[in-house]
Amino acid sequence: MDVVAERKPEHRKVTTLAALNANQQAAIRKIPAEVDAVVEPLEATRPNAIFTGQARFDAEQARIFRRFPVPVTLSALLPEPGMVTAHEGYGVPLMIARAKSGEIKAFVNACQHKGSKLLEDCEVHKRGRVTCPYHAWTYGIDGKLIGVARNEAFLNLDKDKRGLVELPAREWGGVIYVQLDGNPNPDWSQLSDQIAADFASLGIPDAHVYGRKTFELKANWKVILEPFLEGYHVQRLHAASIGDLFQDAPNIVDMFGVNIRQVSGRIGYVPAMLDEDPAQNIHKLVTHAYTAFPNCVVVTSQYYTSVMILMPRAAGRTTVEYFMLTPGAPTTDKAREVFARSYELILNVFGGEDFRAAEISQVGLEAGVPRETVYCGLESNIVRYYEALEALL
Ligand code: FES
Ligand SMILES: [Fe+2]
Repeated sequence: MDVVAERKPEHRKVTTLAALNANQQAAIRKIPAEVDAVVEPLEATRPNAIFTGQARFDAEQARIFRRFPVPVTLSALLPEPGMVTAHEGYGVPLMIARAKSGEIKAFVNACQHKGSKLLEDCEVHKRGRVTCPYHAWTYGIDGKLIGVARNEAFLNLDKDKRGLVELPAREWGGVIYVQLDGNPNPDWSQLSDQIAADFASLGIPDAHVYGRKTFELKANWKVILEPFLEGYHVQRLHAASIGDLFQDAPNIVDMFGVNIRQVSGRIGYVPAMLDEDPAQNIHKLVTHAYTAFPNCVVVTSQYYTSVMILMPRAAGRTTVEYFMLTPGAPTTDKAREVFARSYELILNVFGGEDFRAAEISQVGLEAGVPRETVYCGLESNIVRYYEALEALL
């Protein structure tokens, strides 16, 4: 069912330059013509252990992933009150719901009787309550315990004290962040207002989730992240798919704390193209690539937006959830065909090329080679992002 289209009948088809906020427009105006782009050489390395060592993994868990709120899923997955889904990407069983008020709530997906999971799959359900599969205790999606089977058999059971364990949650530019350790006073300071504003102008909070897919990858989360922070690999790793659409040139980069925005011109770009037609699709000319704190990647394409959340499970293991967002559900055969083809292409590019590169690199890294990874001037955003992350460790 096309819930998003019902809610927003006038949704956009493409994003124009004018639809972007002033800060995004200013960044785009700085992109030089492809022929004028200059690559500054760089000397930078990182030790092997940041991708393979237990010590670094533990430090990231303690100092980043359990200390600050982390992205778990997208607002667009739960567009209507009463929608609820389970999530386990970080190893914590979560239940995420949009309450009657429209507010997002996060709970530990565990029954207060004996701990059973309440929702066992990760599909989206629409219901006002959830019933435990074990002894059928029933909870409202606001977390209240509302029904206990054979209630009279329990002595002194206070239902008010056995509601679901709630975790702080917030929507930020269409991304749902949750404080996994339950700290009731989360430090939201790593989330950037500019990033939230950018995601809103890209239509992420109101988008339609056309497809989503979970990948269990044998690679460190940063090894998976790196290709989304550099253009060096694009014409090489992606030579057979999308390589010839993209410039082999540095992009315009802005950092907002530990959040990074990159924007680059497509092949043959010249700045005058921006003003040729105000109604044109800006993503025919430029590509946005973001990393929102600390592990949420957003990449724009002409007719859809990709969002990925890279959830570390062990030094060499990561769960990636990929979302393909479109402005609305397809309503014509042509749109259905374009979206289906795009979905297949992007899963092949990210899954079959970028994620494959990450997994085969992890094999070498775990064999101890290289002792330190080496970065060039086309990969400088990786180093900038790592410096920002390292400041938190
Ligand atoms: S474990 Fe949930 S009702 Fe018993
Ligand atoms: Fe790539």
